[in-house]
Amino acid sequence: MPKINENYLNLKESYLFSEINHRVAEYTKQNPDKKVIRLGIGDVTRPLGDAIIKGLHEGVDAMASAGTFKGYGPEQGYEFLRSAVASYYAGHNISIDPSDIFISDGAKSDTGNITDIFGNDNVILIPDPVYPVYVDSNIMCGRKITYMSATAENDFLPLPDKNVHADLIYLCSPNNPTGAVYSYDQLKAWVDYALENEAVILFDAAYEAFISDSTLPRSIYAVEGAKKCAIEFCSLSKTAGFTGTRCGYTIVPKELVFKSSDGREVSLNALWNRRQTTKFNGTSYIIQKGAAAVFTEEGMAQCMENISYYKENARIICDVFAKKGIRYFGGEHSPYVWFECPGGMDSWTFFDYLLNNAQVVGTPGAGFGENGKNYFRLTGFGTRENTIEAMERIDKLI
Ligand code: MLT
Repeated sequence: MPKINENYLNLKESYLFSEINHRVAEYTKQNPDKKVIRLGIGDVTRPLGDAIIKGLHEGVDAMASAGTFKGYGPEQGYEFLRSAVASYYAGHNISIDPSDIFISDGAKSDTGNITDIFGNDNVILIPDPVYPVYVDSNIMCGRKITYMSATAENDFLPLPDKNVHADLIYLCSPNNPTGAVYSYDQLKAWVDYALENEAVILFDAAYEAFISDSTLPRSIYAVEGAKKCAIEFCSLSKTAGFTGTRCGYTIVPKELVFKSSDGREVSLNALWNRRQTTKFNGTSYIIQKGAAAVFTEEGMAQCMENISYYKENARIICDVFAKKGIRYFGGEHSPYVWFECPGGMDSWTFFDYLLNNAQVVGTPGAGFGENGKNYFRLTGFGTRENTIEAMERIDKLI
């Protein structure tokens, strides 16, 4: 009989968004005539920009002729896309070596898989609340997690505590779910702490394209010294609408070198490369052709148009809470609006209340951590019509 990985038994029964889907499916089965509006999972609704579609078509056409056909590509991603990502960073005055960039099928996979290159006896620091993949993927390896509280009192932006030592620190800015964004000085405090503790920051920048204030850092590498202590994950899901097409990237600077227990110098870039070449055969050429188009002037302008659309949705959501006197956060440099559940309800109770009485689906804050238990998240990624209708229903209900 095989021994199962019993760490899985310590997970909640289902992943947050699977549980939501399950409850919504149950409701629609019982109420087939009701129009349910989904503002739960952060899934985009705008079609891909024309430039991206053209890039994808070029990729498809290349597959049709023997001379341009592509089989297995480099596991790390094609050079043309790694260079395009590096140029994107250069446009924000950050120099990244293309060979430090690993193309993947999205930040969810990479933030989950990064556990492979670290030992299980590290002290892991994770904000509460935050994107559940960080917690679940560490529970799967049986790791002990130390949580840092993100609350309204610290603007949902926990800062390092010099009395707590950590080896691995997960940060997400703009934050999922709260929409909070670290300032340069706050990120610098984290980089200083990581360097002092010889720790690694695992920085999730999936929502960086939503930052519209040029003084706010879009990357951990905006802070000097970060290449010695940080890995950055990013995704085209939210930047360019790739939730269905799947493409992301992870930056593992070669400056990240640590000692093994027998005193050898080990490069995290080399370890991640070893991991990816063993377990991953690369993102499809067609998708990478589409992704490269994101980083052209035309492609990026089309992406930013979609992002403005989603941000306008977030503003529509915020306006209703402002009118109602409900305390809310985010929605400015983020597609997410995070608010206090009205009437002191806990977040799953409010989820059911909203679904049953307004047929609107959101995400209960409890799914992101204990500190989210009285909060709720709505996303600006819906269509304009649905966002307006959902907020009219919520306005009437609460
Ligand atoms: C979310 O809704 O939190 C995200 O869309 C989930 C994800 O990106 O995996």
